[in-house]
Amino acid sequence: MHLNSLYIDSFRCIRECNIRPSERINCIVGDNASGKTSVLESIYLLGRGQSFRQNQLSKAIRENADAFTIRGRAQENGQQQLTRLGCHVTGRSAQFKLDNLTATRRYDLVAALPLQHIDPNVHRLLEQGPQHRRHFLDWGVFHVEHAFFPAWRRYRRALKQRNRALRFHRPKHEVIAWDNELVGQGEIVDACRRRYLELIKKQLPENTNALIGEDALEFHYQPGWRGDDGYGAALAGSLEQDIKARITQNGPHRADIRVNIAATRARDWVSRGQQKILTAALLLAQAHILYTLKNVRPILLIDDMAAELGKQYRETLAEEILRCGAQSFVTFLDPSLIPRAFQDQTLFHVEQGRVSA
Ligand SMILES: Nc1ncnc2c1ncn2[C@@H]1O[C@H](COP(=O)(O)OP(=O)(O)O)[C@@H](O)[C@H]1O
Ligand SMILES: [Mg+2]
Repeated sequence: MHLNSLYIDSFRCIRECNIRPSERINCIVGDNASGKTSVLESIYLLGRGQSFRQNQLSKAIRENADAFTIRGRAQENGQQQLTRLGCHVTGRSAQFKLDNLTATRRYDLVAALPLQHIDPNVHRLLEQGPQHRRHFLDWGVFHVEHAFFPAWRRYRRALKQRNRALRFHRPKHEVIAWDNELVGQGEIVDACRRRYLELIKKQLPENTNALIGEDALEFHYQPGWRGDDGYGAALAGSLEQDIKARITQNGPHRADIRVNIAATRARDWVSRGQQKILTAALLLAQAHILYTLKNVRPILLIDDMAAELGKQYRETLAEEILRCGAQSFVTFLDPSLIPRAFQDQTLFHVEQGRVSA
């Protein structure tokens, strides 16, 4: 998948941008606060229906403008058919469009324009709370396991009802009335995640060896409940605790993956730069899995690629990105930071909110 045109009007500091990106690597260069991240954010909005910066989209309308518009045309590599994606946000409403459909839901966009976002804080995947790792895992699972999303939705709905019953101290039978649905759907979610993690484990060694030169990388999946007797038993066993805590404490909504290098937690062991390389390797592995299983190449958005990385790491990462074959948008503060591997690729300049080739 690649974007062959991108139009932006009045988004953040960007007045207008009308570019024809290359199918391969697009380097975006500009000073601090020139609008580089905003360009990536606009592409992200088209494919995710939300921003990676803030929830309130109207805040991204350019100062003194009434609305912002983003439009893009996406094309499957090697195919003629175009998908038109659009987003129009005013002070009062946000509308997303996929071709001529206006009732576009967020997951329609996610399916139409698969994106991977690697930003300078990508190491939070290892450092911070489990929700980041679940999000990472579920992005991949969503794209390759069709049973996942419907089950996840039903699970979440049942969880909400069960938590509501707990919060309002409803009688026990009203709480456990949701357990069958939770267990049934939760086990599907869990099985999809486990299968996907196995794919990642197979894909990773090649990827990380090239980037980090470590082969003792391990993943430990934690399903979100304790004990070996399955989710049903764990849920039943924690009923009294749930009633006390007034919330459901066990389940796939609490799942996590631990990443170890040489038997030490990755976040305690490696430097920021190495963490960045490692998380980038994870995301590139996902891109590779999506391509091998579904013949879809996600678009890579890589913000401030050079941050935290010395020359050697930058070159290795750039080679891996090239090898991945995906259309990529990569930002740099200065042209001197562009790795050698990207020298012949397409270059855009951003200056005071204007994007030029
Ligand atoms: N709604 C807005 N209207 C105008 N400017 C904005 C708006 N939101 C953010 N900005 C400005 O846009 C700039 C951010 O651009 P950004 O894309 O983060 O730059 P870069 O990534 O090149 O450092 C900042 O100067 C910020 O103040
Ligand atoms: Mg930036």
